[in-house]
Amino acid sequence: MLKLTILLLVLAVSSRCSDSCEPLHAQAHGINLVCCSLNHSLTPSCEFSALCHEQCSCFLTITRDFDCQLKQIESGKYKPYQWLDHQPNASPLSCRQPNLPNSNSPYTIVVENSNGSLTKEFLLGSCSQNVTSITFQHYHPIYDSIDFGECFPNLGSFQVVLLHRTRANFHTSLRNLKYLRVLSLVNVDFEFWLQASPFASTITYIHIENSSITELPKWISTSKSLSTVYLKGTSITSLSPIAQLPAVKSLKLSHNRIENLHRLLFVSPLLIHVDLSYNLITSFASHTFSKCVDLRVLDLTGNPIKMLPYKPFAKNIRLKWLKLSRTNISVCFSFFNFPTSNTTLSPDHFYGLASLKTLSLSRMPIQTISPYSFVPLKSLRYLDMDSCNLTRIPQAVTANCHLARLNLANNMLHKSSSMPPEVMAMLSGLSQLKIDGNPLMEFPASFLLISRENFRLLRHLLHSTMTLPVWLREPCAPYYWSMHLANRTSNLKSFVNQYDEKRMLKSGLGYCREQYDWMLEQMEVYRELEKNSGQFSKTTT
Ligand SMILES: *[C@@H]1O[C@H](CO)[C@@H](O)[C@H](O)[C@H]1NC(C)=O
Ligand SMILES: *[C@@H]1O[C@H](CO)[C@@H](O)[C@H](O)[C@H]1NC(C)=O
Ligand SMILES: *[C@@H]1O[C@H](CO)[C@@H](O)[C@H](O)[C@H]1NC(C)=O
Ligand SMILES: *[C@@H]1O[C@H](CO)[C@@H](O)[C@H](O)[C@H]1NC(C)=O
Ligand SMILES: *[C@@H]1O[C@H](CO)[C@@H](O)[C@H](O)[C@H]1NC(C)=O
Ligand SMILES: *[C@@H]1O[C@H](CO)[C@@H](O)[C@H](O)[C@H]1NC(C)=O
Ligand SMILES: *[C@@H]1O[C@H](CO)[C@@H](O)[C@H](O)[C@H]1NC(C)=O
Ligand SMILES: *[C@@H]1O[C@H](CO)[C@@H](O)[C@H](O)[C@H]1NC(C)=O
Repeated sequence: MLKLTILLLVLAVSSRCSDSCEPLHAQAHGINLVCCSLNHSLTPSCEFSALCHEQCSCFLTITRDFDCQLKQIESGKYKPYQWLDHQPNASPLSCRQPNLPNSNSPYTIVVENSNGSLTKEFLLGSCSQNVTSITFQHYHPIYDSIDFGECFPNLGSFQVVLLHRTRANFHTSLRNLKYLRVLSLVNVDFEFWLQASPFASTITYIHIENSSITELPKWISTSKSLSTVYLKGTSITSLSPIAQLPAVKSLKLSHNRIENLHRLLFVSPLLIHVDLSYNLITSFASHTFSKCVDLRVLDLTGNPIKMLPYKPFAKNIRLKWLKLSRTNISVCFSFFNFPTSNTTLSPDHFYGLASLKTLSLSRMPIQTISPYSFVPLKSLRYLDMDSCNLTRIPQAVTANCHLARLNLANNMLHKSSSMPPEVMAMLSGLSQLKIDGNPLMEFPASFLLISRENFRLLRHLLHSTMTLPVWLREPCAPYYWSMHLANRTSNLKSFVNQYDEKRMLKSGLGYCREQYDWMLEQMEVYRELEKNSGQFSKTTT
């Protein structure tokens, strides 16, 4: 009977507000409550007015000052708590009867570092509210006893985002959620429950970061809605449930303990982005990515992969970005010969990648490379071979007529012949060639092949050589540049203006001019190659 009166009172209050949503900002009992209205804005001076976007919604934050009355207030004395706009209300707040306003508005709840048992009671008291999103910034094991699916049936987002690693258990709390779309668990050690949750059919986004979990449950793999899986810093070793996801688009799986992929087949044809960097992958198979016809980005950086399988990317005809940096794929075989074993990079390995724009091979133990390796890469624009211990620029880099940027920084290019003229002539169209961090001791005559019209490339080379040992070791080096840029009007010249004829003669370096003329003559035979490479036209347009 008494309960009924309370119920009627509650109903009376809520029905009064049911078809309107009042704008409101209240701070009381350690709760910050902002409600936005469809038609009326919050007091413009209110600092939270930016939260509101012309729709009914409430944002409730439970702070560390939170307090409420645990014991039920006697029914006779029951007076529903009033949340007043920009007015304090110190009358007692009952945990189980918070009488929150705007009962039809979707509620977003954030739990900061508050008293766990009181917060639990308050959440249970808010079950009648349409809570669609809840985020815990501090987690107490007592929350595991709340059945969130029963309490907040419309919950679409559940996040536990902590600063410090904390153990938790979600078996009771999350199992029954029906409409969950976003699940985010950061710095939480937990294990998944084995029995399928109803939200398998609604979940779209899973983010688990810094967690002890070792595997994802099999039931996840049935989800047709799951489009992004973001796992980072977990102990997951196997990707089987993830590879079977039928409609997944984005897999961000870096820094886990994923081992090998050669038995896996990623089945989703919608897959666009796969980041598997910094795992323990040693191998994958020709079929592993063969269904991913829409794949654009594949990142395998930092895995101890030893060799690539036969034509591994044959079906990835839309792949734009391939990162194999810091892998252990060794590339070592004789010049001008087809590879004789499978342990080396060959054209077969890049077969199918006609759309590839960027290839990252930095920090790979490359010594030499087949001149034909990059032939299939018809659209390649950026090739990164930073820190590969290359002792000369491989002929292979001349196979791609759209190449615009080539990174050869931090290699072992050390003498004039490290930059062969037949290769440099073909690179005359680049807009960027990075060679800083090389132990270059001699001035490569092939620099003089670069078209003087290609101002950007010349500037790069000039600035780089100024930082390399050759600038100090080879007294003529600054004068070569000065002579080379002598008749140009470009401001590039100003960098080497001081190295004029007078200074050269005074320093007893008159022979530099003869050397320069001699180098130009040497390069004459390659000049035709440079012109015919027809590359320069593309960078000027
Ligand atoms: C908001 O205003 C529109 C017309 O301007 C009206 O139809 C609607 O009922 C109002 N909604 C509320 C919640 O006041
Ligand atoms: C709860 O809020 C969501 C999101 O705005 C809305 O779609 C749903 O109809 C609401 N449910 C109830 C019972 O008001
Ligand atoms: C939380 O609140 C309850 C009830 O007021 C109290 O007994 C308990 O000591 C509080 N816990 C902490 C950690 O303050
Ligand atoms: C995950 O853990 C690493 C290492 O402990 C830490 O640097 C990083 O900030 C953590 N990530 C988050 C989101 O807390
Ligand atoms: C890479 O390969 C070399 C030579 O086979 C081996 O010594 C090294 O341990 C490997 N590195 C990794 C990270 O597997
Ligand atoms: C190279 O790979 C092909 C295809 O996977 C295989 O048939 C062949 O035996 C391999 N050769 C060597 C030398 O491993
Ligand atoms: C390059 O050579 C250095 C010194 O020999 C070695 O420490 C480094 O691991 C090599 N880098 C690669 C990518 O092979
Ligand atoms: C610059 O012009 C002078 C005089 O016209 C000419 O002798 C010299 O060869 C030119 N230098 C270069 C690098 O073209």
